[in-house]
Amino acid sequence: METTTQQLLCKNVKALPPSFIKGMLKATQDPEIISFSGGLPSPLSFPMEALGKSMAHAVERYGTKLFQYSLTAGIPELREFIAARCNEKYGLGVTAADILITTGSQQALDLIAKVTLDPGDGVIVEEPGYLGALQTFLQYAPTFHPVALSEDGLDVEGLASALAAPRVKFIYTVPNFQNPTGLTYSAQNRKAVYNVIRDKNVILIEDDPYGELRFDGKTLPYIAAGRFDNCILLGSFSKTATPGMRVGYLVCKNAELLETIAAAKESSDVHTSVLSQYVLYDYLTHNDYDGHIAEIRALYESQCKTMLDAMSECFPASVSYTRPDGGMFIWCTLPEGKTALDFFYEAVECKVAVAPGDPFYTAPKAVRTFRLNYTNASKEEIREGIRRLGTLL
Ligand SMILES: Cc1ncc(COP(=O)(O)O)c(C=O)c1O
Repeated sequence: METTTQQLLCKNVKALPPSFIKGMLKATQDPEIISFSGGLPSPLSFPMEALGKSMAHAVERYGTKLFQYSLTAGIPELREFIAARCNEKYGLGVTAADILITTGSQQALDLIAKVTLDPGDGVIVEEPGYLGALQTFLQYAPTFHPVALSEDGLDVEGLASALAAPRVKFIYTVPNFQNPTGLTYSAQNRKAVYNVIRDKNVILIEDDPYGELRFDGKTLPYIAAGRFDNCILLGSFSKTATPGMRVGYLVCKNAELLETIAAAKESSDVHTSVLSQYVLYDYLTHNDYDGHIAEIRALYESQCKTMLDAMSECFPASVSYTRPDGGMFIWCTLPEGKTALDFFYEAVECKVAVAPGDPFYTAPKAVRTFRLNYTNASKEEIREGIRRLGTLL
């Protein structure tokens, strides 16, 4: 029987599965639990003092502008800063006009889905893929076409056959230090993906919140950003400065598409907080932002190493896992016969939380994979948590 509230909801929302995350969070409320399950950056990654100064400075400098309605596209100063950075670091050849400031990249995912998807339209996603994106897209009732992700990147043949499906609107990728696997597409794989999509009328989303958090190796060029008009690159300050200020951005050279997305944003929240934008802009232009990112990188690299060392000492050989070159996550696979969900509940009994792999897939199946986050626990907690998991395994 529907409740009276359910009678008021739309079909798409009623068809959504109950939030897996909410259920899991309930199981991990105990403050004694060592949690590797979330995706939070370390609080040490927030440049607190500098941001505090920028708050006072921005009020002095920009006065009432900070508290007034503003442009949907975002403040021009910040868009220019982002365009210059995209050009300097990646040679994208973009201008401020190609940039829309969003309320985190999460909002960009919602806006793209909102303007492109009719129910049943095709969406190609990595398998496993970022849960927050899958949940957002689901609200628009698409047909998912999952394509396998492996050590090298996206399965190119799988991508080509998924593209042959009817009404495919976009491909969603996280090419650097992917959430949940920590995997990075190789340079060769990026070229192969580009060759498959270059003459297709489809949107490629390159979602890159972790790209600057590389511990090892060289920065790789994007798959198509800057050279394929229907490419939408998503960036965020959440993992390099602060997630709480909710500032992300979208880069797209297709002006018609960008304007359409901006119109959807206008209806949604008019613009991203100007206060956040000016404070962030002040911070970025009066501090050594690259130096700050280098500190985060060093911190995460040592946390990641602590976790991998503890895993190699405590985990049996039957458990395999990825070795990320950056980002925030390690992805583990249990031996045959085990399920991640059973393992999750057993781990909670030992007061350790992991993120079972299930919600990172488009169709429910009893999976053997789980995600570990190493950025939001101390080294002592990492060693102790992994020791407990190792005993369990
Ligand atoms: C792959 C990916 N995309 C987007 C987001 C959303 O980030 P934000 O909205 O804070 O920019 C996250 C957050 O964890 C993520 O992992």
